[in-house]
Amino acid sequence: MLKEIHEQSDVLVSSMQGRYDGLSNTVDLSADFQDSPISKGRIQGITRCLLVGMGTSMHACMIGRHYLERFAGIPTEVDNAAEFRYRRPLLDANTLVISVTQSGETVDTLAAMDEAKRADCLQITICNTPGAQSTRLADLSLLLGAGAEISVASTKTLLASIMALHAVSLSLGKLRETLTSEMEAEQVVNALQLPSAVSTVLGNSGKILQVARKYAASEHFLFLGRGLGYPVALEGALKLKEVSYIHAEGYSAGEMKHGPLALIEDGMPVVVIAPKDDYYKKTISNMQEVIARGAKVLLLTNKDANQVISENI
Ligand code: BG6
Repeated sequence: MLKEIHEQSDVLVSSMQGRYDGLSNTVDLSADFQDSPISKGRIQGITRCLLVGMGTSMHACMIGRHYLERFAGIPTEVDNAAEFRYRRPLLDANTLVISVTQSGETVDTLAAMDEAKRADCLQITICNTPGAQSTRLADLSLLLGAGAEISVASTKTLLASIMALHAVSLSLGKLRETLTSEMEAEQVVNALQLPSAVSTVLGNSGKILQVARKYAASEHFLFLGRGLGYPVALEGALKLKEVSYIHAEGYSAGEMKHGPLALIEDGMPVVVIAPKDDYYKKTISNMQEVIARGAKVLLLTNKDANQVISENI
């Protein structure tokens, strides 16, 4: 798993290769979708999108939802595939279903895809395994090219899935004429900086290990975030449970005051994900509420907010 975590920068480079062009600052998925029988008219006629997956893949879907709504202007929902398959979802031929699955073989995700197929939905699968069942069920497949993921707990394929959802959303936005070339260029420029940003974070593993040692004996952890930080919080809690057997919960930071704040005990570690985005001030104010209750905050934020971290760890 550690090896796969450290492969993430290279995985990002290869997942963007041939898709993100840093010279023209454009995204192009025509090489992936070249045999596609799907017309531009059908793409433009999509009225809603459903993203389905399980575990880490579902967390990627929750991030993808922001991209699809923002860049492609498609009302988007996310469903846990195990729930989706049993709740008789309302689907039609104008619904786009995007499944995210590293293996392409997760039973609940495949069952959700079967359900979508019966309703004649347009289907895209984002998958890391060439020839997997999800690629046979979908109309279009976007392969992650992240290399085999041996660890049961997904790591590198999460980032690759998020990048793939980003690329799909930008491409759909172009076809649906909801994405301006300025927005596209800004997204491409930022995306191409990610591999080196990931290397910088992973280069900090000494400090990360120090923090981990300090809190390793804790019995409970909370992870909080808003916006894109919310699925990251859920993923952090999932990973901690899965690999450390420590009880952890991920919450939307705005949800804390509606009950979960009662869980905070003196010295309880709370990981706060607060990048300097539109939610920053709100998340920091939620963070102050947990500090007031005695939490020890581990804040993940941009470098220039460093003094807040050193005040609170
Ligand atoms: C779980 C794994 O069993 O399956 C998770 O522990 C993974 O890490 C989930 O995200 C879904 O798998 P897949 O292959 O459909 O992405």
